[in-house]
Amino acid sequence: MLDSYGFDLWADSYDDSVRQAEEDNEYPFAGYSALMNAVYGTVMNCAPAKVLDVGFGTAVLSKKLYDAGCKVTGIDFSAEMLQAARRKMPRARLLRWDFTQGIPPEFAAETFDFIISTYALHHLAYDAQASFILALLKLLKAGGRMLIGDVCFETEEALLECREQNGELWDDEEYYIVFSRLQKELPGYSVSFHPFSFCCGVIAIGRGNDG
Ligand SMILES: C[S@@+](CC[C@H](N)C(=O)[O-])C[C@H]1O[C@@H](n2cnc3c(N)ncnc32)[C@H](O)[C@@H]1O
Repeated sequence: MLDSYGFDLWADSYDDSVRQAEEDNEYPFAGYSALMNAVYGTVMNCAPAKVLDVGFGTAVLSKKLYDAGCKVTGIDFSAEMLQAARRKMPRARLLRWDFTQGIPPEFAAETFDFIISTYALHHLAYDAQASFILALLKLLKAGGRMLIGDVCFETEEALLECREQNGELWDDEEYYIVFSRLQKELPGYSVSFHPFSFCCGVIAIGRGNDG
């Protein structure tokens, strides 16, 4: 599993490596742009929104939201990613924070229209994912939504099939969300799955019937 230094080293070439894998329609980034556009479009339906981006990376998505007038807050534990994002979004509130430690104390009294997280939560171990997501959901405004876009699968069978097809390419150190499993861990929330390729999708979560 990459630590923050690993992501520091990846910061300069991250956008290119995503582009290449996406062009080749390969795991893990097949469908990346369609997924990102879908998250962008959903947030923009309610613009200008107050948005928390969890694991913002090089700010591919949050920069577009920022330019469109959204108020962007973000967390990421990589100093290099932070620097790259700060250059693109000088007025955004960006914190260096390791989400394995939960929610930053600075957010105790904060609420957001959208919490977005793209290609980041698979770096959190399965036993920590649901509790972190539940803690994030408490930061949503009434009617707000969380959008998780990532390598993820509707069912356990779909994950196993993708793993089988990708052999040595498959990364055993990443924890891809399985929608049917996560849904059971979020009682009281409306959770829906929107696939964008054989290996990625957006999971939308809202209170009651908001998802
Ligand atoms: C694959 S990149 C995705 C970046 C961006 N969201 C995107 O979709 O292009 C994953 C990001 O999550 C961050 N990340 C991974 N583990 C983290 C952790 N434990 N705490 C905070 N950030 C983390 C990395 O530094 C990196 O910027």
